Amino acid sequence: MDGPSGSGKSSASRGVARALGLRYLDTGAMYRAVTWWVLQQGIDLADPEAIASRAGEPRLVMSTDPDAPGVTVDGVDVNGPIRGAEVTGAVSAVSAVPEVRARMVALQREIIAGTLASGGIVVEGRDIGTVVAPDAAVKVFLTASAEARATRRTAELTGTTVEAQKAEMARRDTLDSTRRADPLAKAADAVELDTTPLDLDEVIAEVLRLVKERA
Ligand code: C5P
Repeated sequence: MDGPSGSGKSSASRGVARALGLRYLDTGAMYRAVTWWVLQQGIDLADPEAIASRAGEPRLVMSTDPDAPGVTVDGVDVNGPIRGAEVTGAVSAVSAVPEVRARMVALQREIIAGTLASGGIVVEGRDIGTVVAPDAAVKVFLTASAEARATRRTAELTGTTVEAQKAEMARRDTLDSTRRADPLAKAADAVELDTTPLDLDEVIAEVLRLVKERA
């Protein structure tokens, strides 16, 4: 399940994983966790080579339980700080570094492979259908209007406005879509679903219908 920020990927992926008894992986949380570590180390965000040279250091452990997803970095629970403004503002710079992506993609494939014997996994991100799992049984690309995405994100956060969120999302989407390494893109064989007029239950129902039809 790929799509831009605020398209409803997280809630929909978790809901689908629960409904089908599958595992769940939030790859955005992985890039956010590495970004938290980069900031913690005081590495210059404007220096991709410095980020690249240390990309192998942080040790991430992911929970793939859709009822209790989460990430630790070197044993530290970072689930709170990775949602903060500092990490959100920095994540696109860190996730654009090819060495960071190579390491995350390898870890994502390892996690996916570990779930296949017990049914599989719903994975959400930006490059899952195109790069991480090109052989996925079902690929969905979620979209929504800029207004709907910003309104949803504003409802999840405190101390922000729809206008501020719209600007932050536009900035991040431009960086994520135009970077050289694995940009946000819809796979040729993905089904695009515009969630603007849908509520969460309707999005989940539509994805479950696609799974039944295709998997
Ligand atoms: O999904 P979320 O908004 O938490 O993702 C945070 C950031 O992580 C994105 O803006 C993007 O820069 C990066 N990301 C990525 N590839 C993925 C998932 C997320 O580059 N598969």
